[in-house]
Amino acid sequence: MVRVSKSLLAGLGLAAYPAHAALTVNLDSPESIKQAAAQVAEDLLTFYHGDEPGWVPGILPGPPPDGEYYWWQGGAMWGALMDYRHHTGDKSYDDITSTAMLFQVGDDRDFMPRNWSASMGNDDQAFWALSALTAAETGFTDPAAEEPQWLSLAQAVFNEQTHEDRRVPSGNCEWGLRWQVFPSNNGYDYINTIANACYFNIGARLARYTNNNTYSDLAARTFDIMERLGYVDKDWNVYDGAHLPDCTDINKAQFSYNAAMLMQGAAFMYNYTDGEQMWADRINGLLTRTLAVFFPDGVAFEPSCEPGNCNADMRSFKGFLHRWMGSTAQLAPFTYDTIMPVIKKSVAAGVAQCTGGDNGRFCGFHWTTGVFDGRTGAGQQMNVLGGLTALLAANPPLTNTTGGTSLGDPNAGSDRTTITQLAEITGGDKAGAGILTAIMIAGAVGAFSWMSID
Ligand SMILES: *[C@@H]1O[C@H](CO)[C@@H](O)[C@H](O)[C@H]1NC(C)=O
Ligand SMILES: *[C@@H]1O[C@H](CO)[C@@H](O)[C@H](O)[C@H]1NC(C)=O
Ligand SMILES: *[C@@H]1O[C@H](CO)[C@@H](O)[C@H](O)[C@H]1NC(C)=O
Ligand SMILES: *[C@@H]1O[C@H](CO)[C@@H](O)[C@H](O)[C@H]1NC(C)=O
Repeated sequence: MVRVSKSLLAGLGLAAYPAHAALTVNLDSPESIKQAAAQVAEDLLTFYHGDEPGWVPGILPGPPPDGEYYWWQGGAMWGALMDYRHHTGDKSYDDITSTAMLFQVGDDRDFMPRNWSASMGNDDQAFWALSALTAAETGFTDPAAEEPQWLSLAQAVFNEQTHEDRRVPSGNCEWGLRWQVFPSNNGYDYINTIANACYFNIGARLARYTNNNTYSDLAARTFDIMERLGYVDKDWNVYDGAHLPDCTDINKAQFSYNAAMLMQGAAFMYNYTDGEQMWADRINGLLTRTLAVFFPDGVAFEPSCEPGNCNADMRSFKGFLHRWMGSTAQLAPFTYDTIMPVIKKSVAAGVAQCTGGDNGRFCGFHWTTGVFDGRTGAGQQMNVLGGLTALLAANPPLTNTTGGTSLGDPNAGSDRTTITQLAEITGGDKAGAGILTAIMIAGAVGAFSWMSID
C-alpha cells in the first residue's frame, strides 16, 4: 500500500476517513482517558463560533431556526468544560469560558439577558447558574473585581426563583416553580420537574458552599413538593411535570437529566447534612431506578425519545447523567461501588461509536448500537466528554471554608426589575421555545403527549 497523507487526500477531493481514526481509549488508564477527553473537547469546540466575528459570545448556533441549540445549552457546555478542566487540569479553555459566561450575565447580573426573554425558562436561567456554581466549586479563575462573581450569580438566580412572582400562589401545586419566567410565554402554566430540580440542586449546593441553612430548607421543601405531587413516584420514577391548576395531569415521560439532577442534589444534601438518612434513602431510590430506566443493558439510553427522535436538547442528556452520577459517587461515597462500574461500561460503549465526522472520531448519540449514527453535534460530544470526565478522580467540590474563593452576595437578585415590567419592555413572542419544547416531540413517540394535555 502506498501511504498517502490526509492533506494529499483532501487535495484530490477525497474524504479522509482512515480506518484507524476512531476515538480510542484505555479506560483503566487515567492518562489515556485524559488524552481521549482532550480530543473530544477539541471536537466539541468546533460547534462553537462565539469567539469569531459576527457571532454572539457564549452561545451555540441557534436558537431554531437559526441553529439547533437553545440558549441554555451554551451555559451547559461551559459547565461541562469546567468539569473537564477540574478532572484533567487542562486549562486551555479558560479564557473562552470566562468570556462566554460573563457575556451572558445580562444587565441585572442574573443570567437573564433580554435577547432571550421569549424562551426564558427558570430551567434555562438555572443551567447558567449551575455552571457558575461549578466555577466556584472547582476553583475556576474568579472574574475581575468589577465583574459579577460566580457565587453571587448563582445566588441571584436562586433568590429570583425563590420570589413569589416565579411561583404558584395557591392550590394543589402551591409554591411550585413555573417552567417559564414570563406570563406571556407558552409554558407559564407548566410546573415541570427540571425547573424545580434545578432550583433544588442550586439550593443544596449553595447551602454546602456557604454553610447557610436557608438554602437547604428551601431545597428540601422543593423535593417534598415533587414527591407529594407524584413527579417522583413511590417507585422513584421521575416524570416530566404537570399543568395548572392542579398539577395532576402528569406527563410520564422520563428523561435522564431530571433524575440525575435530583440525585446529585440529594448527594449534596447528604454531604452537607453529614449523612442524614433521609437523603441516603432518596439517593438509593433514585439511583436504583435510574440504573433500571436509563441503563437497560448497562449502557446509557433515553427511553422517552431514543426509540424515536431525540431533539438537540435531549441529545445532550447522557453527559449530565454520567457527570452527576460521578458527582454522587464522590459526595455520597456509599454509592461509589455501585455507580463507577456502570459509568465505565457505559462510557466504553459511548467511545466505541465515536468514528464519525471529518476526522473520523466524532461521536453520535446511540451508544447502545455500537456504531456511529451519522449525526454529529455539540450534545453528542458533551455526552462522551461528560462520561470520560466522570471516570477521573478529582478533588471534592470546594466550599467557602475549604479553599473556595468566589465572593457571594446573599442579596443578589433581590432588587431587580419585576417580571411584569421586564415583560412589557421586551414583549414575549410567545415562542415558548425553551429547553423542553422537547416534550412535544417526545410525546409523539412515547409516553404521553404534552400537546394533547396542554
Ligand atoms: C443580543 O443580540 C444582539 C443582536 O444579535 C447581539 O449583538 C448581542 O451580542 C446579544 N447579546 C447577548 C447577551 O446575547
Ligand atoms: C462528603 O464528601 C467528601 C468528599 O468526597 C467525603 O470525603 C465525605 O465522606 C462525604 N460525607 C459523607 C457523610 O459521606
Ligand atoms: C466566607 O464567607 C464569609 C461570610 O459570607 C465571608 O466573609 C468570607 O470572606 C468568605 N471566605 C472566603 C474565603 O471567601
Ligand atoms: C443565608 O441566606 C439567606 C438567603 O439568601 C440570607 O437572607 C441570609 O442573610 C444568609 N445568612 C447568612 C448568615 O449569610
